[in-house]
Amino acid sequence: MQLFKRSAYCGQINESFLGKEVFLCGWVNKRRDHGNLIFIDLRDRTGIMQLVINPQINKIVTENAKSIRAEFVISVRGEVIKRAADSVNEKIETGNFELKVLDLSIINPSKALPYQLEEADNVDDGLRLKYRYIDLRRKKMHNIIKLRHKIIFAIREYLNKNDFYEIETPILSKSTPEGARDFLVPSRLQPGTFYALPQSPQIYKQLLMASGMEKYFQLARCFRDEDLRSNRQPEFTQLDIEMSFVNQSDVQEMCEGVLNAIWEKIFSATLKLPIPKYTYQQIFKRFGTDKPDMRFDMEIKDFTKTFEHTELKFLKSVIDKDGKVGGICVKNKKFGKAELNSFIDFATTKLGAKGLLFIQFKEDGTPLSPISKFLPTDFLKQAREIISDIMPADTLFLIADNYYDAWLALGKLRVLIADKLNLSSNNDFKFLWITDFPLLEWDKDEKRWGAKHHPFTSPQKGWENLKPEQIKAKSYDIVCNGEELGGGSIRIHDIKTQTKMFELLGISKNEIIDKFGFLLEAQEFGFPPHGGIALGLDRLIMMILKTDSIRDVIAFPKTQSGNCPMMQTPSRVDAGQLQELGIKIISKK
Ligand code: AMO
Repeated sequence: MQLFKRSAYCGQINESFLGKEVFLCGWVNKRRDHGNLIFIDLRDRTGIMQLVINPQINKIVTENAKSIRAEFVISVRGEVIKRAADSVNEKIETGNFELKVLDLSIINPSKALPYQLEEADNVDDGLRLKYRYIDLRRKKMHNIIKLRHKIIFAIREYLNKNDFYEIETPILSKSTPEGARDFLVPSRLQPGTFYALPQSPQIYKQLLMASGMEKYFQLARCFRDEDLRSNRQPEFTQLDIEMSFVNQSDVQEMCEGVLNAIWEKIFSATLKLPIPKYTYQQIFKRFGTDKPDMRFDMEIKDFTKTFEHTELKFLKSVIDKDGKVGGICVKNKKFGKAELNSFIDFATTKLGAKGLLFIQFKEDGTPLSPISKFLPTDFLKQAREIISDIMPADTLFLIADNYYDAWLALGKLRVLIADKLNLSSNNDFKFLWITDFPLLEWDKDEKRWGAKHHPFTSPQKGWENLKPEQIKAKSYDIVCNGEELGGGSIRIHDIKTQTKMFELLGISKNEIIDKFGFLLEAQEFGFPPHGGIALGLDRLIMMILKTDSIRDVIAFPKTQSGNCPMMQTPSRVDAGQLQELGIKIISKK
């Protein structure tokens, strides 16, 4: 076995190499034995180059090549020649050329792969993750990793140009209140005590502002033990930013600058800036969510007034209790019975709605609905006062409940219908900022107030005289195409407000000292005003690539149940390790 020193990459071969001798290395993508000639598609990370092995030129090389199979690692020496006109391959960039092989060396053979690379999209995810290093050989996966690198590089370049310091913060840390469960790491040196893996570097970045760093960023690893979804991993990356002496607009502008730098690098285009800003209240009223997909309309409208004098018992009882009737109108679409039933089923079983009403129309505008007899014949006319362009060809869906629950359910129904009708499949990126969130949210289970963002978020002016539910936060989310990409806030920087905030959250004095004593102390040593944001990097890449699963954009992701099938993690450890840590496993019944 002889490893030839590579002189070029497969994908680089072009006109300028014609007639020249090159050394290539890589994997055998395909081998075709035509008897008189053997063709090999050689693959490296840049592309594919066709090799031609001719027994007339070298008998030993030909014998050697006969044993070659897919995924063998080989290196070759050869002359770049033009392909005959009838064998040009337009599908690959090097398709006009081939390499007349003069020498060939098999560096390492390969067993038959557990699945064919070109069939990977139809292979079970578990198998792909078990052999992730093979899966990453695919061009599609290579391109994702390359794009991820480019994005990271654009971020670093932009923030460096804007005088940010990239600072790493500890992984062995203390619990931070981002709302998920912590991953814990037992300490051997202090048995019985634990580190927590950071859910985000939130407190560290604030302390870095106390250190006078002024502008910080980090591509930070975050760890959250929460139920996984297609856009959630237990271990993910944030672009974490913090700045001193800034207001909300300064942070937003910096974040927009970062996104624009990414757009310039990836799409050679500029983003339309500034990104529009809406308050949480405005957005929830229109879309029933704090992360609306604005690529399609179907806004929620208030139909309460239309039903003020209804004889329909259910609607009446909701309205009498100060509830609301909300509706969405699907333009130019009539649904069949089965589809309508599936929406009703979805709304009642998945969204917790008490019911879903639908109204379709005859051509003359007469309503067609299970509640037709309770509707005035001029219902369409009345509905036009709320939705000016509603037509007989449209379908109207209504949900009645308290404002929040009704709008929440309609917001989800809106997304489901848009998915079914493919309304969100265009290539637009509809960014928006959402501001003025409530500072607190009521935790029904714990029966106490919790922080909507986190407990270090500054309340807006005048908060001392308001009821908890009325207080607004100096916080902001950035949303795109129905996905929360990032969130941040202006922080509390004085001990008085911070202590009051902890009290509002019902955290006892002892707990405050135990968990956040160091932060309160720092606030007494000259803490500057500061604020920041964190963007979910994996989600951003997912969105740019329009992939359905966050796993696609992470080199070594975990499965939906938090496992790594390749390394078989999490895994048991041996008894000695547990003993050293003073840990006894109690089996859960
Ligand atoms: P937040 O908790 O909103 O804020 O997180 C910021 C962004 O991180 C991404 N994200 C995730 N991505 C993948 N998997 C997960 N499990 C996951 N959880 C969150 C989302 C989210 O918008 N410290 C604050 C930021 C700040 O105030 O500066 C924080 O972490 O895109």
